[in-house]
Amino acid sequence: MFDKLLYIETFGCQMNVNDSERIVSMLADLGYAPTNEAAAADMILLNTCSVRGGAEEKVYRRLANLRIYKRDGKQQIIAVGGCVAQQEGEELLRKLPYLDLVIGTHNLHLLPDMVRCAERGERRSETSFIDNEQRLDLFPSIKGESRLSRFVTVMQGCDNFCSYCIVPYVRGREISRRSADILAEVRQLADEGVREVILLGQNVNSYGLKSADEPSFAGLIRQVAEVAGIERVRFTTSHPKDMSDELIACFADVPKLSGQIHLPAQSGSDAVLKLMGRGYTRDSYLDRVRKLKAIRPDLVFTGDIIVGFPGETDADFEQTLSLMEEVRYIDLFSFVYSPRPGTKAAELNDDLTKAVKMARLDRLMELQRRHTREICHTYVGSVMSVLVEGEGRLVGQVSGKADNGRIVNFTGDCSLIGTFVNVTITKAYPNSLLGELSN
Ligand code: 5AD
Ligand code: SF4
Repeated sequence: MFDKLLYIETFGCQMNVNDSERIVSMLADLGYAPTNEAAAADMILLNTCSVRGGAEEKVYRRLANLRIYKRDGKQQIIAVGGCVAQQEGEELLRKLPYLDLVIGTHNLHLLPDMVRCAERGERRSETSFIDNEQRLDLFPSIKGESRLSRFVTVMQGCDNFCSYCIVPYVRGREISRRSADILAEVRQLADEGVREVILLGQNVNSYGLKSADEPSFAGLIRQVAEVAGIERVRFTTSHPKDMSDELIACFADVPKLSGQIHLPAQSGSDAVLKLMGRGYTRDSYLDRVRKLKAIRPDLVFTGDIIVGFPGETDADFEQTLSLMEEVRYIDLFSFVYSPRPGTKAAELNDDLTKAVKMARLDRLMELQRRHTREICHTYVGSVMSVLVEGEGRLVGQVSGKADNGRIVNFTGDCSLIGTFVNVTITKAYPNSLLGELSN
């Protein structure tokens, strides 16, 4: 029975998207139905990101806006979760008197209890990290409504401590979920009609490395792919240093494994990679890419790059552009370096001017636009297997995802939703493809 409304705004990565789905299903048990209207909600929750300064500032601006709703005389609960909550903790309650709840990244299981407290007017912050044994039993599964493609968390946290990154501090130590629990969840999702699972974690390819009882990530993929009803398996995100030959082999002999991989390089310069503490060189990264391409020539790559890392010279930056030329990413997420408090890189001399950083970002994005355009144009005339997921943007169209992750729109009936169909690509846009049903 729903008698209250919950409004959630999610910032940042897919971990947060996944956590927000969990929050919706947990609070449904307390009578909260999701709404898209903050003003109408009985509870507003911001699920926050602190990975870059800009992301964090956005959260503070949004929090300042929320004050208006509270002043409307409503008994609204205002809550902050995610990485800013973890980072700031109690301090947020002190700074923002209209805030009711602060919930850290390890504390989601406490949320129902905290919401009940807030309903009685109690303000509370819970941000302590809990130990790994206890966490294993607290990996919540997602109830929610059945869709065709769902995330399944396989690990959380990160032990890599790349010098620029705040994630290990706000998400805590790395822990792999039990494979038996993961498989049980995948089977349940398949029974509910899910056809594609996306195995999710900060560093999925280090799955199981620290536990003698669990399979490697490659082993896990093979087991997940065997679950009847699951037709496609994706994963995100992976670390190049843990891209084992065993995992690369899966791209050759696990047909259900998607034809797209997210493999963040961060930089193409050895000097910068060393300062970043990434644990691989330009050559070893490119070696992984070449092996993957040899084993599956149609595989598409996406990645992340940071420009303007402290000390990055023009020559270092040219190395990044040349790495992009070698890899030819289909999509690239590029960021200007943002110093994060408490990280090692924050102590380095951030000596580049903003103008230099922005000029580098512009050049990089221009190159990426060209690569995206050129790669997508090669698809015109080809036939792609598409999982139809919903209505398209235009009337009479349906939309789905190709094996390589591209969105494909084509004229077709809604009865196709939930099925795999062959589509001939007729036109390529930067973010999607247009096609015709070709069965
Ligand atoms: N500054 C800029 N970009 C960052 N990222 C992580 N930390 C920072 C930072 N301090 C980027 C990395 C990572 C992506 C999720 O965000 O490229 O892969
Ligand atoms: Fe951050 Fe590096 Fe861990 Fe990725 S691998 S979450 S960039 S510390």
